[in-house]
Amino acid sequence: MKFCATEFIFIAIECTQRRSRNSGLGFMGKIVAIANQKGGVGKTTTTVNVSACIAAMERKVLLVDIDPQSNATSALGFDKEKEHLSTYDILIGSAEPSSSIKETALSYLKVMPSDINLVGAEIELVDIENRESLLKSALTKIKDEFDFIFIDCPPSLGLLTVNALVSADSVLVPVQTEYFALEGLGQLLNTISRVKRSLNANLELEGVLLTMYDSRLKLSNQVVEEVRRYFDQRVFKTVIGRNVRLSEAQSFGKPIILYDAASLGAKHYMELAKELMGRNSKPLAHQEAPQPPQEEKASVRDRENETT
Ligand SMILES: Nc1ncnc2c1ncn2[C@@H]1O[C@H](COP(=O)(O)OP(=O)(O)OP(=O)(O)O)[C@@H](O)[C@H]1O
Ligand SMILES: [Mg+2]
Repeated sequence: MKFCATEFIFIAIECTQRRSRNSGLGFMGKIVAIANQKGGVGKTTTTVNVSACIAAMERKVLLVDIDPQSNATSALGFDKEKEHLSTYDILIGSAEPSSSIKETALSYLKVMPSDINLVGAEIELVDIENRESLLKSALTKIKDEFDFIFIDCPPSLGLLTVNALVSADSVLVPVQTEYFALEGLGQLLNTISRVKRSLNANLELEGVLLTMYDSRLKLSNQVVEEVRRYFDQRVFKTVIGRNVRLSEAQSFGKPIILYDAASLGAKHYMELAKELMGRNSKPLAHQEAPQPPQEEKASVRDRENETT
């Protein structure tokens, strides 16, 4: 089925309209770490595109790049070689988090970029007190300014990923539909449990996301079945198909919705954004059902008494 640009625009408008119809829904700074120590499974592609799709629905989103490879930073059009304040400066405490945040081509999406200095951070931070909670302390200062914060993790379970897990409310785990898809996931789940036990009791599994799915391949279908059997309800209904436009968009420094809104990649990430927002919608504290004032309550009681 071909997905056309008008359909995409319709979905975006529909989501925005639904948002204003259900204006009691709020997200209030949910932090989601996108992690899997396996390389090349779609962490960065997912972080960039789910962030952009949610921002397109007029939710305030911050993407935090904590990977020294800086792929999310360059996928949003920033030169990763250029000097800029980055997550490194925030972790070592030489800059305030708000000073490193940059605007992007989407008005509701901001980015805290990474740079190559992060390569040395794991070693530099080793003797620092509370080294696992440095990102958490920084994000706590700005959390309330955003509806969602997504953290793009490096392909390792070292100190940088642990910092992301300690700051996060939940973890989204992309799993590529290929040979040995589940390999290493045990180790990741153990790390999540360890962080939950010792440093962040509130950490939850947001969900497992199947990526780079190719319906023509028997193997892809087998992996989908296996992952669903193992993780059951915790697997996102949305499956991200293999789509070359996603890689192209990255190399042009654009999220897919700005590069090719009619592509299958744009459709799938828009669906994921809607699924994630649906799972996380909750009433805003100040928009809960209004309580009648005391005298009014009394008069209701009085009226009830009158009728009995
Ligand atoms: N659905 C997809 N269809 C086609 N190509 C994809 C898809 N998702 C990701 N890719 C491509 O696969 C490669 C790896 O993806 P990505 O960089 O998102 O993985 P990663 O898990 O962040 O990798 P790393 O572990 O190195 O950080 C990239 O070239 C990306 O453009
Ligand atoms: Mg990556």
